[in-house]
Amino acid sequence: MTRVFSGVKPTGHLTLGNYLGAMRRWASVDQYEADALFCVVDLHALTVDHDPARVRRLSRQAATLLLASGLDPELCTLFVQSHVDEHARLSYVLECVATDGEMRRMIQYKEKAAREQRRGGSVRLSLLTYPVLMAADILAYGADEVPVGDDQVQHVELTRDLAVRFNQRYGHTFVVPRATRPGVASRVMNLQDPTSKMGKSDDVGPGIVYLLDEPDVVRKKVMRAVTDSGREVVYDREARPGLANLLEILAACAGGSPEELSGAYASYGALKKDTAEAVVEVLRPVQERHKELCADPGFVEGVLRDGAERARGMARPTVDAAYRAIGLLPAVPAADAGGAVLRV
Ligand code: TYM
Repeated sequence: MTRVFSGVKPTGHLTLGNYLGAMRRWASVDQYEADALFCVVDLHALTVDHDPARVRRLSRQAATLLLASGLDPELCTLFVQSHVDEHARLSYVLECVATDGEMRRMIQYKEKAAREQRRGGSVRLSLLTYPVLMAADILAYGADEVPVGDDQVQHVELTRDLAVRFNQRYGHTFVVPRATRPGVASRVMNLQDPTSKMGKSDDVGPGIVYLLDEPDVVRKKVMRAVTDSGREVVYDREARPGLANLLEILAACAGGSPEELSGAYASYGALKKDTAEAVVEVLRPVQERHKELCADPGFVEGVLRDGAERARGMARPTVDAAYRAIGLLPAVPAADAGGAVLRV
């Protein structure tokens, strides 16, 4: 059976981009068709300036929203990254296979490092090594597929390179994974700046639809989306990025293709109205289930506890094998150590 792994980083409130680009497919397809693991990757949230209490809160919220979006703990494994030591254990070993040059070529590193520097802050070393930790997340579980939005594809490509390099140097240890992307909305753009991604860590609130936004807030954000000064509704990502973004969101929420839908609208206003309603309808069941789950925090905790236990059992053998393959001396279990002393 295909093994799938993917994750979400608790650096902000989850957005419509996270949902359409990744989470929705995890719940509607991946958990049924594959042996699937989904992870709140909290260690990754420490790579930029952070508030400890906020990271804890957002981690719990992300796990609750993943369940609210339809993940079923009977069908998949849901857990928090820091509850499973194997991620950090493997990350160090992979750092010994990765190069400084390939880390510095990562687009997200370049963008985020530049942003930190513009704000006058310093760039954490973990921001540079972040893609290696992400590779460890994936390779520890022998995942065949990694369902992600467009922005994570470069990191999955790096993961493939590291797996191949490790296998060639030290013997076959890792499955070489591949990224999978949704057909539409693999890159949902900011409604106020349709040339940049709708990202949860960004500060520009009005252009970002959060999964927990009230219906009226969603309507307002979509109705105020920046479009261009033309009048005709056409789908052209290059020339009309704002319009294309709305058509893609509508297609992802209500069905159809952006090209087809463009022919059905005579005005921007009508397109915005239908897009807003389609988003509200997609978010409604997620928000309702989220409310129910918040009333039962013990359930969410139990899911994460069981998930971490299952995940540990899956990751341990692969990470142990990687340690042996790269030349680390296996630790002798305590019981055997006693025996060894007696034998001397
Ligand atoms: P993160 O938390 O930024 O995003 C989680 C998932 O949502 C997708 N996504 C989007 N898709 C379409 N349009 C958008 N505007 C949009 N914004 C986010 C992302 O592509 C992602 O699939 N590094 C990862 C987390 C991670 C991970 C992993 C993922 C850590 N380890 C291992 C897969 C496998 C990240 O920051 O995702």
